[in-house]
Amino acid sequence: MNKQIRLAKRPEGLPKKDTWNLVEEEIPTIEDGEVLIKQHYISLDPAMRGWMNDAKSYIPPVQINEVMRAGSIGEVIESKSDKYKVGDYLSGWGGVQQYVKTNGDNWYQVDPRLAPLPVYIGTLGMPGMTAYFGIFRVGQIKEGETVLISGAAGAVGSVVGQIAKIKGCKVVGIAGGEDKCRYLIEELGFDGAIDYKKGNIYDAIKRECPVGIDVYFDNVGGDILDAALSRINMHARIVICGAISQYNRNVVQGPSNYLALLVKRARMEGMVVMDYAKDYKQAAFEMGTWMKEGKLKSKEDIYEGIENFHKTFLRLFSGDKLGKLVLKVSED
Ligand SMILES: NC(=O)c1ccc[n+]([C@@H]2O[C@H](COP(=O)([O-])OP(=O)(O)OC[C@H]3O[C@@H](n4cnc5c(N)ncnc54)[C@H](OP(=O)(O)O)[C@@H]3O)[C@@H](O)[C@H]2O)c1
Repeated sequence: MNKQIRLAKRPEGLPKKDTWNLVEEEIPTIEDGEVLIKQHYISLDPAMRGWMNDAKSYIPPVQINEVMRAGSIGEVIESKSDKYKVGDYLSGWGGVQQYVKTNGDNWYQVDPRLAPLPVYIGTLGMPGMTAYFGIFRVGQIKEGETVLISGAAGAVGSVVGQIAKIKGCKVVGIAGGEDKCRYLIEELGFDGAIDYKKGNIYDAIKRECPVGIDVYFDNVGGDILDAALSRINMHARIVICGAISQYNRNVVQGPSNYLALLVKRARMEGMVVMDYAKDYKQAAFEMGTWMKEGKLKSKEDIYEGIENFHKTFLRLFSGDKLGKLVLKVSED
């Protein structure tokens, strides 16, 4: 049988257990041109919260009773396709379920001998691509600049900071709690870290970025975005990657400090990773090289069992996890 998580109703605020149903149905049978994938790992991403709202966005919302949309990775266990054979590993949008059939469109093959499977949905997958294109194409970092990152101990933020270090920037991360801040400095080599749960965020940014901020990579929005805007330099770039502090709110809190953009002739720009799909391969190659050279570390936090989807998903919002949040839904 195929265990699946289906959207039961649209949540108000933080999703509750009954936001989804756990259902079982027959494992799908495949037609000519298709493969059956046994999914091993599901990517849990903050964006999934937005996809549950009945609102216009960059992709349509998940429909009620539809399998919850999610990135995933798994092994081909049956094939009637010329493209993929049994034993191939594929990554794509398989949803929160144990088995999925596909004709292979929008799936890509990964090699488990080159990196552990979860890395392909983390640093070498969608979050890593977001970090790469966000910091280079939108942030346009230059050597010697000061880069401030919120959500810095997460899947995207931790990679952004390490890339900026590779490129010779001064890097300061904002994260929740002393342990995460220590991790940023001691494990990832950041120059500074700010625990936003302790003390005044304005004072802390001033202390850690004494010559101001050239690039602010924003993953959280809200008060932290306002505080960062108060310290930007001339011609600063603010990358609007996400705003997790706002995802469970009915009314989004916009930046009140936006006139800093005018005063500093600065630019604030949103980005969606899918826009860069044609260049993923080149980015993954470069990031894979940095990983081999020991310059880029990848951290996945893996929990087990599709039954635990709800409580694992909530870790994104409580911050009770480090690096990329992954749910293992069947054995390797
Ligand atoms: N634009 C795109 O194409 C794109 C693609 C991927 C991701 N994103 C966005 O990038 C951001 C990071 O995604 P991710 O996958 O790397 O997630 P993540 O950072 O691995 O996980 C979310 C983290 O957000 C922090 N957080 C939760 N609630 C918060 C709050 N109220 N205030 C401040 N921090 C809070 C928590 O860390 P702490 O313990 O530090 O609080 C948590 O660990 C999200 O906003 C996501 O939507 C955008």
